[in-house]
Amino acid sequence: MKIGLSDAAATEALAEDVAASLPADVGGWTVLLTGELGAGKSTFARALIRALGHDGAVPSPTYTLVEPYSLDRGQVYHVDLYRIAAEEELHFLGWSDLDDGCRLIEWAERAPGLSATADLKLTLRYDGEGREAEIAGLSARGADVVASLPINPNT
Ligand SMILES: Nc1ncnc2c1ncn2[C@@H]1O[C@H](COP(=O)(O)OP(=O)(O)O)[C@@H](O)[C@H]1O
Ligand SMILES: [Mg+2]
Repeated sequence: MKIGLSDAAATEALAEDVAASLPADVGGWTVLLTGELGAGKSTFARALIRALGHDGAVPSPTYTLVEPYSLDRGQVYHVDLYRIAAEEELHFLGWSDLDDGCRLIEWAERAPGLSATADLKLTLRYDGEGREAEIAGLSARGADVVASLPINPNT
């Protein structure tokens, strides 16, 4: 499903819609964010983390790789794979420690194998001054979330 995002507030509103469509406990979910530099991945991630209940700053995980949040709706791990050179590096970074939480992954294209076990994939592209999002359900429950988004795909 493709969605026009005319400004950053529209990207944030989409994140809020996704948060509202996810289950009360987001543990075990994986959301992939892809798109080139400046496409709005961090804007979406920040808004989603806040919509899930975080009140405060959302620092970039570019250097720490993972920023954890303990929220009412579960553990959330904000991950940025920009600095990952090879998918195998994930194993050395304690990837399996993130199993309990919701993994929100920027630069997911750096680890193509993640698609096999992910639930949602958001692809962001430049579109004039704004952006276009394409959201896809990669699992059955992910497809249910996409289907329940309050967005008219024809607009
Ligand atoms: N839909 C949008 N339309 C226009 N600008 C946007 C949109 N979404 C985000 N932006 C802006 O684009 C810039 C880069 O966003 P950012 O989330 O940091 O991108 P990324 O993490 O993909 O590199 C920010 O200034 C942000 O406000
Ligand atoms: Mg970013």
